Amino acid sequence: MQPAYYEDFKEIKKKIWSMLDDAVTNRNSQFRIPIFVCGDQSDFDGRIVVLRKSDQQNRLVQFHSDIRSDKIEKLKKNPNAAMLFYDKEEKIQVRLKVECTVNHNNDVTKESWSKTQHISRKCYLVDNGPGTESDIPTSGLKPELDNFEFTMEQSEEGYKNFTVIQCKVKSIEWLYLAAKGHRRARFDLKTNKDTWLVP
Ligand SMILES: Cc1cc2nc3c(=O)[nH]c(=O)nc-3n(C[C@H](O)[C@H](O)[C@H](O)COP(=O)(O)O)c2cc1C
Repeated sequence: MQPAYYEDFKEIKKKIWSMLDDAVTNRNSQFRIPIFVCGDQSDFDGRIVVLRKSDQQNRLVQFHSDIRSDKIEKLKKNPNAAMLFYDKEEKIQVRLKVECTVNHNNDVTKESWSKTQHISRKCYLVDNGPGTESDIPTSGLKPELDNFEFTMEQSEEGYKNFTVIQCKVKSIEWLYLAAKGHRRARFDLKTNKDTWLVP
């Protein structure tokens, strides 16, 4: 028997957002670590990020990053980006086209930072930004930070590097692999147009 979302636009959208919502809290979800792709006309790059928020009502997904990361400059020049998800068990691929806002030192970052755990704050305590060249192999952290010998109070130092990338979803593409026949659909969230595509 085929699932309810096999040939039903409404059910497909429901399924997609439920998978995104679940991924935010479920560490075992395969949608938790999508590939985020951004760049300019001659230099595109993809990287894994952790999905931190999913909000269907506002067509928004978001992740955290370091303000010094190379992708920030790229996003400031070109906020159009893409996100790619695949769940092997569900056999569902989701591709998002998004427009990004880089949040730094504002209410959005304040709220997200307050929810970050001690362990996650470590990433934002590196002396030099991600991608900085080094003469030796390194984590970029001072040894005491590497060993988690820092208090929650000391971790506040990382806030200045903390950024929340908000991704406004412009369109969603869905691909479902099924023995009975694959199904593919596109959802334009700006115009509310739903379209079947040949897989
Ligand atoms: C499992 C996993 C989760 C990651 N999560 C994030 C993340 O949430 N945000 C982020 O900026 N980088 C994350 N990274 C690191 C990026 O993949 C990338 O290496 C880093 O952002 C530097 O690349 P960039 O500055 O070119 O984006 C993660 C990597 C892995 C393997």
